[in-house]
Amino acid sequence: MAEGTVAAGEAPLFDPFAEGFTADPYPQYARLRESAPVYEHPLGFWVLTRYADVSALLRSNSSVEERHVNPGPLSQLREEVYGDRLPRADGLSMLDRDPPDHTRLRRLVAKAFTPKAVRALRPRITELVDGMLDEMVAARRVDLVPALAFPLPFAVIAEMLGTPPTDHERVRDLSGMVVRSLEPVLDPDVLRAIDSAYQELSGIAADMIAWKRHNPADDLLTALINAEEDGDVLSDEELIAQVLLLYIAGHETTVNLISGGTLALLRHPDQFAALRADPGLVPNAVEEMLRYDSPVQESRRITLEPTTIGGVEIPKGTFVLAILASANRDERQWGEDADSLRLDREGARNHLSFGSGVHHCLGASLARLEASVVFERMVSRFGDLALDGDVTWNGRINLRGPAALPVVTRPA
Ligand code: HEM
Repeated sequence: MAEGTVAAGEAPLFDPFAEGFTADPYPQYARLRESAPVYEHPLGFWVLTRYADVSALLRSNSSVEERHVNPGPLSQLREEVYGDRLPRADGLSMLDRDPPDHTRLRRLVAKAFTPKAVRALRPRITELVDGMLDEMVAARRVDLVPALAFPLPFAVIAEMLGTPPTDHERVRDLSGMVVRSLEPVLDPDVLRAIDSAYQELSGIAADMIAWKRHNPADDLLTALINAEEDGDVLSDEELIAQVLLLYIAGHETTVNLISGGTLALLRHPDQFAALRADPGLVPNAVEEMLRYDSPVQESRRITLEPTTIGGVEIPKGTFVLAILASANRDERQWGEDADSLRLDREGARNHLSFGSGVHHCLGASLARLEASVVFERMVSRFGDLALDGDVTWNGRINLRGPAALPVVTRPA
C-alpha cells in the first residue's frame, strides 16, 4: 500500500460526524495533513488535505459532471431517491459541467457578469450595509447573522437578478434547502426535500425568465437572457440552472465570509485594533479571513484517469474530496503560523477558498467587494463590537459558518 494512504477497514481518519467537527474541523484536518494527506476513506472516496495536492487535483483532468453518474456515495443515494425523476435543469449549471459544455456556459454567463457590472454595485452595497449597521447600532444587542451577514449578500444577488421583492422570502427559504445538496453526506429525507425545493425554485426562475423576456431591464437576468456568442445563447433550461446557481453561490457562501470574518476579528482583538488603526488593510484582511476560515470547505471531483497526487496513484473514476479549508492552513504553504490570523499576511490571496482551475469562482470579485464594504464600514461605524454570547454553527460540513453570532455594538 502506498505511503500516506490508509487501508479500508481501519477507523476513518476523516470523520465529519465527529463531536465538535463543525465548530472546529481544523485539528482533524491537521492530523490528516500529517499522517494521511492522500487518504482513502473506508467508504470508497478519497480525501486530500495538503495545499499542493488540493491545488493539483483542481487543475488536473478531473470531472465534476461525472458526479451525477459516478457511484460516489452521494450519487448512489441520489439515484435511489430520484430514480429518473431528476429535475430537468439539474446538472446543467456550469458548476456541474465539464468542458466543453462548461466553457460555453461560463463564457455566456461571464458576458453578463462583468467586472464593470460588479464595480458599479459599490454604491448600492454601501447603502445596504449602512442601513443594516444603523439598525444594529440602534438595537445594540443583535445576532449579526440575520442582521447583516445573511441579508446583505442575499439582497445583492436577488436585486442583481431582478427578483420581485414579493418572491425574496420564498427564494431565500428554497435556496437554503437546495444548497444542502452541496453537503457530502445526505439522508434520503433531506434529498427529497431538496428535490421539491429545487422544483419550486426552478418554477420561480422560469416565471422570472418568461416575464423578463417581455420586460427587459438593466439587470443580470436580462443580460443572461441576451448573452450571445456566435449565435449561441442559453436555452431556457440552462438559464434556469445558472440562475439557481447564482442565487445559491451568491449568498450561501458570502454569509460565511462576513460572519466567519467578523468572528475571527472578535477572537483576535489585536488584529481588530490593527484594522481600525489602518482601514487600508481591509483588502488584504478579507483575503486573510478567506484563508483563515474557508466559507466553502471543500470541492469534489471524479478522476478521469489514474492520477498521481502527492506521490500516490488515485485510480480512474474515484470520488475525491479536496479540502480547501485544510489547504488554507497547510504549514508547508503558509509557514509555522498557518493557524494564526494575520491581516497583513503576505501572499494571503493565494488561498484556495475560491477554488482553482476552470471552476475558479466566477463571483470572487463580488464576494470581495461585499466583504470589503462590510469591514470598511464596520470599523468606521462601530466604536466597539464584542461577542455577547455563544456562537452556534450551522452544522454544515461544506458551506460551514456561524448560524448565530450574538454581538453587542457601540457607535463610534
Ligand atoms: C464556484 C467559493 C461567492 C458564483 C465557486 C467555487 C468555490 C467558490 C470554491 C468552485 C467550486 C468547485 O471547484 O467545485 C465561493 C466563496 C464565495 C463565493 C468562498 C464567497 C465568499 C460567490 C458569489 C457568486 C459566486 C458572490 C455569484 C454571485 C460562483 C459560480 C461558480 C462558483 C457561478 C461556478 C464557476 C464554474 O463552475 O466555472 N465558488 N464563492 N460565488 N462561484 Fe463562488
